[in-house]
Amino acid sequence: MKGKTVKESTITSSHLMLIKDSGNFIFEAGKTIPMVHGGILMTLMDEIAGMVATKHSGTQVATACIDMQFVSPAFAGNRMILKSSVNYTTKTSMEIGVRIEAEDMKTGVIKHTNSCYLVAVAIDNAGKPTNIPAIIPETKDEQRRFNEAKARNEERLKKRIKN
Ligand SMILES: CC(C)(COP(=O)(O)OP(=O)(O)OC[C@H]1O[C@@H](n2cnc3c(N)ncnc32)[C@H](O)[C@@H]1OP(=O)(O)O)[C@@H](O)C(=O)NCCC(=O)NCCS
Repeated sequence: MKGKTVKESTITSSHLMLIKDSGNFIFEAGKTIPMVHGGILMTLMDEIAGMVATKHSGTQVATACIDMQFVSPAFAGNRMILKSSVNYTTKTSMEIGVRIEAEDMKTGVIKHTNSCYLVAVAIDNAGKPTNIPAIIPETKDEQRRFNEAKARNEERLKKRIKN
């Protein structure tokens, strides 16, 4: 099977956070500021990673594992910017990276809020793993991400919970 480059499946998306997306609140200078609920960001992350994995593999995918960090909070009114691409592939699985940033659109200040690595497995119509194209890292950054993802995957497999 012919390999595919990272840019062939890379996706960037943008989402406005509303009050309904908020869970906790912080109180600052007499104001109540609604913080975006973690589950909203997890859903956005899972959705974009699934799209990237589907574009790369050309088939449907199942999420096998998620490793997500919350670096700083996002607030209602922020524009969330999600950037996602394939870091690494095995015969049937892919590590997808997602970086989430929050923009305060009034000031233009952008903050890193989340980073996430997700393993997606390409599956056939019977739900069984199926082969995918190998990822072709082209740039220096893509090569670095590939090497780091390979090391992470080795660690993940040691901890894998099997049915
Ligand atoms: C993910 C799933 C399809 C894997 O099927 P399986 O029969 O266990 O298949 P395998 O053991 O051959 O795993 C397939 C590949 O994924 C990799 N993999 C599976 N789980 C993994 C994990 N937790 N971490 C890293 N890699 C993993 C395997 O190493 C294998 O890699 P390979 O390409 O080198 O062969 C199956 O476990 C499943 O259906 N899980 C539930 C998925 C789900 O419901 N997700 C939420 C909704 S999308």
